[in-house]
Amino acid sequence: MKYFNDLADFSIGEIKELVALARRLDDKPEPRVLEGKVLSLLFLSPSLRTLISFQSAMARLGGSTCVISPEMSIHGLESRSGIVMDGVAAEHIREAIPVIASYGDAIGIRAFAKRENLDDDLNDREFRELISLVDKPYINMESAINHPCQSLADWKTLDDLGIPASGGKLVLSWTWHPSPLPFAVPAATLHMAALRGMDVTVLRPEGFALPDAIMNKARQAATLSGGSVTETNDCSSAMQGSQVIYANSWASARHYGDKRAEDQIKPKLGEWCVDETWFGNAASDCRFMHCMPVRRGVSVTDRILDGPRSAIIAEARNRMLVQMALLHRMLSGS
Ligand code: CP
Repeated sequence: MKYFNDLADFSIGEIKELVALARRLDDKPEPRVLEGKVLSLLFLSPSLRTLISFQSAMARLGGSTCVISPEMSIHGLESRSGIVMDGVAAEHIREAIPVIASYGDAIGIRAFAKRENLDDDLNDREFRELISLVDKPYINMESAINHPCQSLADWKTLDDLGIPASGGKLVLSWTWHPSPLPFAVPAATLHMAALRGMDVTVLRPEGFALPDAIMNKARQAATLSGGSVTETNDCSSAMQGSQVIYANSWASARHYGDKRAEDQIKPKLGEWCVDETWFGNAASDCRFMHCMPVRRGVSVTDRILDGPRSAIIAEARNRMLVQMALLHRMLSGS
């Protein structure tokens, strides 16, 4: 495997093989398989789970990681093209990335959406520019429009929970959040669930419909797998018979890059905080998923996070397991 950038680059069979390998490595560890291998990790955006799960994954396979982020660097890092570097930044990303990549056998890069230009972010323009500087196998650790490691972990989590692929019902719900968040997780989750063959409903308030490019990609995946994709702003109809609700927040495409305009349509949306009342006509054992970080009392209540519906800790642990499978495939030579 030369890169891991998008679940859409893999067949359903290949994804199932990765999930099976993750399960096998959990049951039968291979603590020396990546001995001597180094994974470079470049974090241009913050992380808790992605950083630690990649470090743990490499350590459990016998390899190691080197981590760099602008906060750690003694040099300021410049990313603009054609700039005269007479300000604070002393290092340009055009040199920094090939240097960092040269120290490892593969590189993971995280760069969140800039949220200035919707087309740029939908096309993952910045991430494409970054990986054009890399001549090693690479992993997308979350870009403007994708979070494939999260989606692979979520695929496994849905399997672990016994949620059926064909005919399983998942609600991807917008939730309240004070900031306009990127489309990476909702886009990746919607595509993953559709590709898995599930019946997916996007539940969101007016003004927060996902862009057509995201919906169309998911609909194509659903066509391949026999799933379906619908959207609504009605919680009760969305939750009817649902087996899992995946909560997330995202920006208004209508006001992309304009927080002040988005803030004007958000004051009435505080009720979009997942609580037990949402589950009235869901399946009785309907589960709650969230990629985290999650804001308690804002996006979801304590009662849900601390109760039996929540699968979020298992979901986070699965990040490490599926990334072990990815790294095994990428670096073991098998
Ligand atoms: N879910 C996820 O990617 O978490 P972090 O942002 O903490 O890495």
